[in-house]
Amino acid sequence: MFSIKRLQAGLNTKFLGREVKYLEKTFSTNVDAWECFQTQKSEGTLIIADQQTKGRGRRQSKWYSTEGKSLTFSFILLPEIALEKLGILPLLTGVSIVKGIHNISNVLSGLKWPNDIMISRKKMGGILIESRTVKKGLNVVVGIGLNINESKDDIHDTLQDQATSLYIESGEELNRELILASILNEFENLYLNYWHDIISLWQKYCIHENDDITFYSNKKPHQGTFRGITETGHAMIQINGKTETFPAGMVTL
Ligand code: BTN
Repeated sequence: MFSIKRLQAGLNTKFLGREVKYLEKTFSTNVDAWECFQTQKSEGTLIIADQQTKGRGRRQSKWYSTEGKSLTFSFILLPEIALEKLGILPLLTGVSIVKGIHNISNVLSGLKWPNDIMISRKKMGGILIESRTVKKGLNVVVGIGLNINESKDDIHDTLQDQATSLYIESGEELNRELILASILNEFENLYLNYWHDIISLWQKYCIHENDDITFYSNKKPHQGTFRGITETGHAMIQINGKTETFPAGMVTL
């Protein structure tokens, strides 16, 4: 069972994870996190579940996780930023996950645009950020799902070729509380101090810069070369010698 006490002992944050709601089982921590805005919870409130039965992924996909082995959590933010800066938040989150995992496990994961966490070209984690504009600014839910201690048998049948876990890659069982604390520490530091450095940090961890890629736009496959990301977090893809930019919702790699 996940220990909130162990998590909080590892935290050095000011606001993130200071208020925690632990659920043994829930449908989706992102859905639970949205309720926090109704109940006036403070910024940084964290919802963590040991078992998520209707986990949501990007683009209406399902997110599969394993009871007691995965990390499935969400937290709420009230960022005082212009709407166009919101595209940086998934990148900031990805960087904090890579750094947070590396601090604890020595495993250096990588990033696939816009927000997949990858090891050995397989996905070990994903990020689902949802936002609403309200009178006072922005309400944001950051949802993160990470495969930590799953063995190969725990990975969903349909994802055997595409997904992995930290345990599968490192052969070591890892302490989920320490990993989560380390990610939250990294996140808060970047969020409070380093918005300007996110693009270059993200590119440092990107696993496909300058790779020839197939990407899907309007459900059709296209060929191009990934040339990095713009100041607002859009992908720059070179197609027939011309570089075009795409926001995250418009293309999948
Ligand atoms: C993706 O498709 O890559 C994003 C997956 C995000 C999954 C996490 S698990 C915790 C939070 N609650 C959800 O229902 N989804 C996110």
